[in-house]
Amino acid sequence: MRMKNKFILDACCGPKAMWYNKNHPNAIYIDIRREESLGPHRPKQGVKPDYIMDFRKMDFLDKSFKLVVFEPPHLKSLGQNSFFRKKFGCLNAETWQGDLRKGFSECWRVLEDYGTLIFKWSDSEIPFKKVLALIDEEPLFYNTTNYKATSVTKWFCFMKIPK
Ligand SMILES: C[S@@+](CC[C@H](N)C(=O)[O-])C[C@H]1O[C@@H](n2cnc3c(N)ncnc32)[C@H](O)[C@@H]1O
Repeated sequence: MRMKNKFILDACCGPKAMWYNKNHPNAIYIDIRREESLGPHRPKQGVKPDYIMDFRKMDFLDKSFKLVVFEPPHLKSLGQNSFFRKKFGCLNAETWQGDLRKGFSECWRVLEDYGTLIFKWSDSEIPFKKVLALIDEEPLFYNTTNYKATSVTKWFCFMKIPK
């Protein structure tokens, strides 16, 4: 699958909370699920991807995007009825390492040479070093402010520099 003028991929968009424009004309949003609403407290918010697709096996050609953003679920021990699970999903406690490795590898495959991958991760349950150890690539840089303080969210920037 290749689409004209769609050169940004959000590989697991969830409710698109981080997006300024939640329907950016140059972006494709995918997620493994669709939710019309996040429930009575957030009736207008939902998970509304352009395509329901698994980041472990995407239907895009190699090198299709200039920018890929990957923010998988960060937590693996959420209750079945937790609002956080409904809003942001949950890692599978048994398979999360393989799932993240496959997801990252697919994000890398669909990224064009010299393209940028932004990986967003919250350290609250699984330290980011454990996640980076799963992948072959090394980030260029990440935010270090508030390290070991209250903010645990990290943004890692990778570039697909041909080897
Ligand atoms: C932390 S949320 C993303 C939040 C989003 N960046 C935002 O700004 O709101 C992670 C999302 O990954 C999705 N997800 C989990 N496993 C997936 C998979 N295998 N393929 C695609 N999406 C997946 C979940 O459904 C969830 O919506």
